[in-house]
Amino acid sequence: MLEDTERDHMLQLAKSMLEKAYAPYSNFTVGACLKTAKGNYYHGCNIENVSYSLVQCAEACAIANMVSQGEQAIKAAVIVSSSPLKCAPCGACRQRLREFSQEDLWVYMFDRDGNYTAKLLSELLPDSFGPDHMELML
Ligand code: THU
Repeated sequence: MLEDTERDHMLQLAKSMLEKAYAPYSNFTVGACLKTAKGNYYHGCNIENVSYSLVQCAEACAIANMVSQGEQAIKAAVIVSSSPLKCAPCGACRQRLREFSQEDLWVYMFDRDGNYTAKLLSELLPDSFGPDHMELML
């Protein structure tokens, strides 16, 4: 679990993404902030496309920012949206987070008013298929 001050800091970074989000088709803006094993933060927003299936989620954007800066280990994730409902990561993003985390990844799901629920990724994606499944095959 994150300390309150760090959680609030990550929420601010994630929220700063809501005004950067490109969501003209859903009007549902999302911001994500990741903390890495090195203690750095990477954030991202959702990016939609008129060809709807090409939408990129905020988590995917944040992961791309992290990987492109040479980091691959997520220790905490904060997700927030413009909705009054707490923003849960979609199924695909649960799998994206799984690629770069271990059992101990806390995911903080915020609503626009600052209320949140925190769950381990292993609760959100039980019995997951992860990189370890490939190890014996490579
Ligand atoms: N969205 C995210 O960015 N992350 C999620 O985990 C859930 C959904 C975005 C995609 C789309 O732009 C909008 O929210 C509505 O689905």
